[in-house]
Amino acid sequence: MDIKSQIDLNKLPEHIAVIMDGNGRWAKQFGKVRIFGHKNGVKAVRETTEAAAELGIKYLTMYAFSTENWGRPKEEVNALMTLLVGTIRKEINTLMENKVRLQAIGDLKNLPAKCYKELTEAIEKTKNNDRMTLILALNYSARWEIVEAVKKLTTDAKAGKLDPATVDSALISNALSTGGIPDPELLIRTSGEARISNFLLWQIAYAELYFTETLWPDFRKEHLYEAIVNFQGRERRFGKTSDQLHQN
Ligand code: IPE
Ligand code: IPE
Ligand code: MG
Repeated sequence: MDIKSQIDLNKLPEHIAVIMDGNGRWAKQFGKVRIFGHKNGVKAVRETTEAAAELGIKYLTMYAFSTENWGRPKEEVNALMTLLVGTIRKEINTLMENKVRLQAIGDLKNLPAKCYKELTEAIEKTKNNDRMTLILALNYSARWEIVEAVKKLTTDAKAGKLDPATVDSALISNALSTGGIPDPELLIRTSGEARISNFLLWQIAYAELYFTETLWPDFRKEHLYEAIVNFQGRERRFGKTSDQLHQN
């Protein structure tokens, strides 16, 4: 049986998050510069987005640039930003045809002006698409996001608009940049690294983590199917015992 037909369409995760990693190492295999890897990673983004939309996944979040990534060599950062602008421009029609809504999380205002403009225009243009939401994490880090949320909530409390006694988990979820988006049930990281690298720390409290050796530019639809089949084979206990889950 091929891998796609092993997927139970009634038990799809609603939200999948992806840490796209391994572009640099992929390029190195061919004796090329790191930027060559980033360019070849675009195809994997397209394939993953298409596969997720075709299956009926509602939210797909992709980690494209972390706040820590500013520490990379200047040429690499510049190339990544240029690639981002070009890719959004090139893919906008495909997003429209496939009814994919684009959103972004992160410190967007501190992206280069050109990126910010291209991004906000694409978000505006696709805002009524309802098949799937593609969320790009750009200039994102989970700690940055939590700091921002705490600032906002404490400001509200100080102004008398928020009673500290009413602070609960839902309120915090809503104050994050992912407010209104369900938590990811499945988190995929490529390239063999088994770490989170400051991604969605609050939201992945109960996500199933899936690590694959595949380098991001090699990631294709089948790799996504494999991750989903693996996810569906797991028992999600949420603190309960296995027996309890099987009682009903
Ligand atoms: C992921 O690939 C892309 C970004 C972080 C922007 P890397 O560029 O991190 O590739 P490796 O991990 O060095 O191979
Ligand atoms: C995580 O990858 C960030 C993105 C995928 C955008 P990194 O390659 O930056 O992570 P570390 O540095 O290996 O943890
Ligand atoms: Mg990396």
